[in-house]
Amino acid sequence: MTFVYKSDPVRGLEWAKLFAQKAPELPFHIWPETGDAKAVRYLAAWLPPDDMMARFPNLELLFSVGAGVDQFDFAALPPELPIVRMVEPGIVDGMVEYVTMAVLALHRDLVPYIAQQRQGIWRQIRVYPANKRRVGVLGLGQLGEAACRKLAGFGFQVAGWSRSRREIDGIRCYAGDGEMTDFLGRSDILVCLLPLTDETRGMLNAELFARLPKGARLLNSGRGGHLDQDALLAALDSGQISSVVLDVTDPEPLTAGHPLWSDPRVLITPHIASMTQPETAVEVVLDNLRRHRAGEPLIGLVDHTRGY
Ligand code: NDP
Ligand code: OXD
Repeated sequence: MTFVYKSDPVRGLEWAKLFAQKAPELPFHIWPETGDAKAVRYLAAWLPPDDMMARFPNLELLFSVGAGVDQFDFAALPPELPIVRMVEPGIVDGMVEYVTMAVLALHRDLVPYIAQQRQGIWRQIRVYPANKRRVGVLGLGQLGEAACRKLAGFGFQVAGWSRSRREIDGIRCYAGDGEMTDFLGRSDILVCLLPLTDETRGMLNAELFARLPKGARLLNSGRGGHLDQDALLAALDSGQISSVVLDVTDPEPLTAGHPLWSDPRVLITPHIASMTQPETAVEVVLDNLRRHRAGEPLIGLVDHTRGY
C-alpha cells in the first residue's frame, strides 16, 4: 500500500519528510518514482497522469494538492473514485492574508497610486473609512467565509454570496441567482473566491459588471476562467470598474503583450494568493487516510456532479 505525490517536487520533499515522521509505515514516492504501480492506493496530484487508472489500477483515493479541483477532467475519472481537495488551515490563512492585502489596496487606492508614482504625479484621492465601503465576496466556502470574517474586523460592510443559504455572524449572506442583483448592487469591492465549474465559468462578465455600483473595484483570486478579460477591459474603459487585482488569469501567464499586463488600472500577481502548506496539509491527508480506512466521512470530499 503506497502513496504517490505528483506536484511541485520541492514541496514534495517536505511532504516526504513529514510522511516519514508521521506515517513511517506508509511508503511515499515523489513522481516520477512510484514503486510498484499496483501497490499505489493514494495519489496526491495537481495534474494526475492521463493514464491514471490504467497505471494505478488499485487507486482508492485521489487528493488534489490544492483547494480547487477544476484542473481535473471529471469525465475521465471513475465516478466511484473519491476525490478529496485541500481543506487545511494553511491554505485558508494564506488566502485570508492575500484577500486582506488586496482589498485594503483597492480600498486605499493603491493601484492608481502606483500608476501615479510611475508618472511622477502627486495627487491625493479622498480617503473614506472602511465602514463606508461595502465588500462583496462571491463564494462562502472555507476561503470566502474566513476572508469575510477578517474583512469585517476592519470595519468593512461585508456580504457574501453562495449557492446554498449560509448564516455567518456579522456577514450579510445572499444565496442563489435570485439574490445576486441585490448582492452586486451593494458591492463597492467585489472579491471572487468561487470554484471554477460549468456554472461559474465566465461569470465575471459585462452583464455582472453592469450590476455593480459605478466605479466598483474587483479582486479575482478564484480562477482566470471566471473572468471575461475583454469585458473587464471594456468596463475599465467605461469607468464601470475603476481598479482591479488579479491573482489568476487565463491563460497563466497571460500572453506577451496582452493589454492587462501594462494596464495602469490593473495589478497582477502570479497565482500566489495562497498555497497548500505541507505541515498542515499532511496532517489533514493522514487524518483522511485514517477516516477512509475507518469508513468515516472524508474532509474535503468533492461532489463529482457539482464539480467542487
Ligand atoms: P469551497 O468549495 O469551500 O467553497 C466554494 C463556495 O462557492 C461555496 O460557498 C459554494 O456555495 C460557492 N459556489 C460554488 N458554486 C456556486 C454557484 N454556482 N453559485 C453560487 N455559489 C457557488 O471552496 P474554497 O473556499 O476552498 O475555494 C474556492 C476557490 O478558490 C477554489 O476552488 C479555487 O478556485 C480558488 N483558490 C485560489 C487560490 C489562489 O491561490 N488563487 C488558492 C486556493 C483556492 P455553497 O456553500 O452553497 O456550496
Ligand atoms: C488551489 C490553488 O486551488 O492554489 O489550491 O489555486
